[in-house]
Amino acid sequence: MDDNGLPEGKMPQLRLIAAPSEANKLGNIFGGWVMSQVDIAGSIPAEIRARGPVVTRAVTSFEFQKPVFIGDLVSCYAEIIDQGRTSITVSVDVFCQRHHQGSLSCTKVTQAEVVYVAIDADGNPKPLPTSIIKETL
Ligand SMILES: CC(C)(COP(=O)(O)OP(=O)(O)OC[C@H]1O[C@@H](n2cnc3c(N)ncnc32)[C@H](O)[C@@H]1OP(=O)(O)O)[C@@H](O)C(=O)NCCC(=O)NCCS
Repeated sequence: MDDNGLPEGKMPQLRLIAAPSEANKLGNIFGGWVMSQVDIAGSIPAEIRARGPVVTRAVTSFEFQKPVFIGDLVSCYAEIIDQGRTSITVSVDVFCQRHHQGSLSCTKVTQAEVVYVAIDADGNPKPLPTSIIKETL
């Protein structure tokens, strides 16, 4: 971890502020909003790997480890951990930075694994490209 408590040397796929409009009746951020951000973040390395569109096929694990609060700076880190003929499995970690008693704290709030499938123009599974080129964001 770096000095801010975020993954060392990695760039988040998504960073955004949790808005009051995303709160649930308890005043915390709605879990479905977090799931949506995880899905979007995970799809980014998957689409880069597939060099085309992917769809979400399965969420194989999803843990809400800590709550997200209004005003948190939410950072989603996603990396490919497995791939098959047409599928790409992405691990997504979500961290929140928030001001607390005059200092900025950082907490890991969510961990998930999502399986994406590359699709063709008809929406059918499409084999991943085999040639190795440098994947860049
Ligand atoms: C994605 C879709 C085209 C795949 O079609 P399918 O007939 O299920 O295809 P397959 O059974 O061949 O599975 C495709 C890949 O997904 C993998 N897969 C299927 N079910 C899985 C599961 N529950 N967990 C993990 N991987 C799974 C398969 O192992 C296969 O991987 P591989 O080719 O790397 O070996 C189809 O299921 C679909 O359209 N689903 C809806 C997608 C959607 O609307 N998502 C939400 C919005 S993006």
